[in-house]
Amino acid sequence: MADSAPAPFRILDLTAANPAAREDPYPRLAELRAQCPVHRDEAGGAWLVARMADARAVFADNSHAKNPDLAEPAAHAIRRRRSTVPDGLAFPDDQRASMLELDGDEHARVRNPLVQALYARIAAFEPHCIRIVEEALTRLEGRAEFDLMKELAEPVPVACIGHILGVPPETLATFRSWLDGIVQTFNPNRTAEDIAALVAASNGLAHYIRGRFAAAKLDPPDDLFGDMARLQTEGAPLTDTEITYNIRGLLIAGNVTTTDLIGNAVRLLLTHPEQLAKLQADPALWSNAVEEALRHEAPVDFTWRIATHAEDLSGCTVQAGAALNVFLRSANRDEAAFANAHLFDVARPRAARHLSFGGGAHICPGAPLARMEARHLLARLFARFPRLRLAEPDAPPHWRRLPGFRGLETLHVRFN
Ligand code: HEM
Repeated sequence: MADSAPAPFRILDLTAANPAAREDPYPRLAELRAQCPVHRDEAGGAWLVARMADARAVFADNSHAKNPDLAEPAAHAIRRRRSTVPDGLAFPDDQRASMLELDGDEHARVRNPLVQALYARIAAFEPHCIRIVEEALTRLEGRAEFDLMKELAEPVPVACIGHILGVPPETLATFRSWLDGIVQTFNPNRTAEDIAALVAASNGLAHYIRGRFAAAKLDPPDDLFGDMARLQTEGAPLTDTEITYNIRGLLIAGNVTTTDLIGNAVRLLLTHPEQLAKLQADPALWSNAVEEALRHEAPVDFTWRIATHAEDLSGCTVQAGAALNVFLRSANRDEAAFANAHLFDVARPRAARHLSFGGGAHICPGAPLARMEARHLLARLFARFPRLRLAEPDAPPHWRRLPGFRGLETLHVRFN
C-alpha cells in the first residue's frame, strides 16, 4: 500500500465552511499545533500560526502590517478583501478608511479618537446595559420554549450599540436587518442573492450613518455621533468618511461576535451543569466565566498580520509579505498556555489570557462592551430563570456555516 501523506491544513477547512470543523474544530487544530505550528496553506497563500507563544510574538511586534496591499501576490485570501467589493455599493472606496486595514501612525490617527470616545461611552453605559438586558428578559416571561439566539443573543448587542449611537428604538429592527445583510461580507461563497442582500444592507446602513453624522455636525447629540462631530470641530484630523466608515466598522465587528459569545456561553453552561452550579454558589465568578467562554469557544477563528521583513516563528522562516493567519481558536486551546486546555472551567485561573480579542495595536476596542453585555445577560438570565434548560438536549448543536466565526444558528431552550 502506498504511503498516504498527511492531509494538508487549509484555512477554510479549519472553519465552519467545513462540516467536520463546524461540528468540532479542535482535534484538527491540536494536530496543527503538534505537527507544524507555523504551516503554509498554499490554497489561501497564507501561514497558519497555531501556538499561543507564536501568536503573542506576532501581536507584540508592531512591524507587522494589516494593509492587504502589502501582502505577497500569492496571498489570495487576504488580497481578496480588496478584490471582492461587490458592484453597486454606494461608496465603494470607503473600505480604505477602515482602521482594520490601516497601519502605524495612520492607524493611530483614525483609531485613537474614535476608540477613546467609545470607551467613555462604554464607561457610562452600564446602567443602560442592565436595563436593556432586563427588558429583553421580561419579554420572555410566560414563554415555555424559545430560540435564545433570536430572542436574546441577537437583539441585545444591537440594542446596546444602538443606544451608544443614539439609534431610536423604532429604528432598531431596520438596523438589525442591515447588520444581518452585511454579515455576507464574511461569506466567501456568497450567492447572487446574498450579494444583493449585502449591497442593499450596506447602502442602507451607509446612508443612515452618513445622514446621522451630517446632522450631528449641525447639532451634536449626546451619543457617539455627537462625540465625533465635536472632536472634528475641535480639530481632530479625521475626514467624514474616516468617521462614518469606522462607526460602521464598530457595528459590524461587534454584532455577530457578541451574539456568538452569548449563545456559546449559554450552551456551555447548559451542557456543564456543574459549572453553572459553581456560578450559582458564587456569583463573583461571572466575570471569569465570560473569559472562560471566550477562551473555550472563541467567537472569531483568526485574525491576520503581514510580515514586513523575514522572521522566524517556531523555527520556521517567513519572508516579507507573508500573510500570517493567527488562529486565535487554536492558541486558546494550547496546552502550553492553559493546563487541561480542553476543559471548560469557570473558575480557571488566568482564563483572561486568551486571545479571542486579538492583540497589539489592533486589539478589539469593543472588548469592554462585549464583556459587560455578556456578564449582565448571563448572570441575570440564570438568576431569573434558574430552571432554564436545552429544549432538545440530545440534538447536535446547530452551528452556523459562516467561515471565520463560531456561533449558533439557533439555540432552543425551555424554562421548565
Ligand atoms: C465577543 C465579542 C467580540 C470579539 C470576540 C471580537 C474579536 C475581535 C478580533 C479578534 C479583532 C481583531 C483584533 C486583531 O487583529 O488583533 C477585533 C477587532 C475589532 N473589533 Fe472586535 N470583537 C468583539 C466585539 C466587538 C465590539 C462589541 C465592537 C464594537 C463596539 C468591536 C469592534 C472592533 C473593531 C472596530 C476592531 C478593529 C480594531 C483595529 O483594527 O484597530 N468588537 N475584534
